[in-house]
This record gives sequence, C-alpha cells and structure tokens, in this order.
Amino acid sequence: MVAPAQAIQTRQLTKIYPGFWKSQKVPALLQLNLQVQSGEIFGLLGPNGSGKTTTIKLLLGLINPTAGEAQVMGRPAGDQETRRRLGYLPEESYLYRFLNARQTLDFYGRLFNMNRVQRRRAVDYYLDFVGLDPAVRGRRIGTYSKGQTRRVALAQALLNNPDLIIMDEPTSGLDPVGILEIKNMILRLKQAGKTVLLSTHQLADVEDVCDRLVILYRGRVEMSGALSDLLERRDVFQLEARQVSPQLQERLVALTRESGATDVQIIRPRARLEDLFKRLVDAKRQTERAGK
Ligand SMILES: Nc1ncnc2c1ncn2[C@@H]1O[C@H](COP(=O)(O)OP(=O)(O)OP(=O)(O)O)[C@@H](O)[C@H]1O
Ligand SMILES: [Mg+2]
Repeated sequence: MVAPAQAIQTRQLTKIYPGFWKSQKVPALLQLNLQVQSGEIFGLLGPNGSGKTTTIKLLLGLINPTAGEAQVMGRPAGDQETRRRLGYLPEESYLYRFLNARQTLDFYGRLFNMNRVQRRRAVDYYLDFVGLDPAVRGRRIGTYSKGQTRRVALAQALLNNPDLIIMDEPTSGLDPVGILEIKNMILRLKQAGKTVLLSTHQLADVEDVCDRLVILYRGRVEMSGALSDLLERRDVFQLEARQVSPQLQERLVALTRESGATDVQIIRPRARLEDLFKRLVDAKRQTERAGK
C-alpha cells in the first residue's frame, strides 16, 4: 500500500471537555490545523495542560472532538484499518504487573493475530531494539524500574511494525543514557521510513530528532515550523577552530570590531553533560562486561 503523503491532518480540531457546570468547561484544544508528512519526526510541545495528550487522544479516536476533524493516514481518526498500522505509546505505561516482558509482548502479538513463530521472533527483536536488559526479561513487570517499564511499553507500541508511531513522553522516567538510546531509536525509525509524532517536555529530545514542531499554549498553536528555521540565528556568526593562539584571538576580535560587527565575544564551548554522562556509563558497562 502506498503511504499517503500526509500521515496526519487536522482541520480546526477542537476539544472542550464538559464540566459539571457550564463555567467548568475546559477548552483543552482550539482549532488545531496540523499537518504531519509521511516519514517525518514531528514534535508536539507545550507546558503542562496545553493540550498535547488531548491532541493524541483525538488522533487515536479515543475521544471525540467538539468540532473540526482529524485524518490519520488518509482515514478518519479511530478507523479500524488505520489502527492496525499505528503504534501508540501512552503517557502512562499500562502493563499487567504479573506478566514478564516476554509474556506481555506475546500477549499483544496474539491481539495482532501473529502466529507463534512470528511472535517469538518479534518479541526478542523489539526488546533488543528498545534495549531492555536481557536479565530482566523473564521477571514480572511489577518489579521493573521506571525506565525498564517504559522500554517494554515502547516495544509494545512497535510490535505490529506500524507506519506511524505516536509517542506521549517517550523518555519520561529514563536515565540520560536511556534518553539518548530512545533518541537514536527514533532516528532509526525515521530511516526505516516511519512517521513519528512525539509529545515531550524534553526540549533536547526535540532539538536532536524532530524535523518540524508545534508549540501549544492553552490549547492553541503559539509557534510552528521547521526546527532548523525556528532555531537558526541568522544574525550571528560563529567560527570554530583549535590551537588559536591568544595573539590571533585578539587580532580576530579587533578585526571583527573594526569591520563594524557588534556584540563580539569569544565563547569557550563546553562539552554537553549528556556526553560526559554517557561516556562514564559506557565505560562502566564495558568493564562490567569484561569482568563477566
Ligand atoms: N477528561 C477531562 N476532563 C476535563 N478536563 C480535562 C480532561 N482531560 C484533560 N483535561 C484538561 O484539558 C487540558 C489539556 O490537558 P492535556 O492532558 O491535553 O495536557 P498536556 O499538554 O498533555 O499536559 P501534560 O504536559 O501535563 O501531560 C488541561 O487543562 C486538563 O486539565
Ligand atoms: Mg500529557
């Protein structure tokens, strides 16, 4: 089947939750016009209560809009046929505590009508994909750490090899290395031609993986566009080099000032804490593996 160019399209999509009294009505999402192209990673941002989860629930057909409409992969939101090609990672992981990771995925595989051989292959493939420690795969989920649970939920969202994956806060509860792994995983999904809609508070996640994004505020789009356009500072020029002598630095600064540039400053770049943390944990894990 040819994927339609628009993975998601909404027109004036609006959700007003009814309150008990009229005055308690909650305008959670107002006239959202969203277009997500097939194959892109799209970020849904906004502070708490700005309408991200509401948008996702509308796209999945879990709730009905008050006004407007939403199409997912060319069909109305909630369509059965579309659901089979969709993966969803909810904000909270709802997993059965008494099953282990393998049993959980096996159960979902049955729901997708996969046969035993297909399930066995897919279960370990996706648990590897999300990086769940093999040592815990046979242990019941009730004993998992937050990050381990999140990984199982992610594997579950990917199990049916969906074309579109909707993730509500995929990195919540993960340690920095886990976050980095999830980001790389999202990029791998993109390389495989998948579309990802991602709601998150982690701005760094968005910066590293998203092609385009919207920022919601009180249910309205406050800003939208391609990440590169939104973040590019066209009025600033930056030069990077190693082994620049203090004399040359001074001359460069003087030259720039003489030429009429303003706000000239030398910036010493710092490594990212994320990189530092990753290096440390990687080294530890390597020693652990060597010691086994
Ligand atoms: N079932 C409901 N009934 C009434 N109001 C609701 C309901 N669900 C959500 N809301 C309200 O709608 C608004 C948007 O909520 P939503 O969950 O979409 O926000 P969000 O952007 O996902 O926030 P967060 O970052 O905290 O997850 C909030 O004011 C919330 O209180
Ligand atoms: Mg939410």
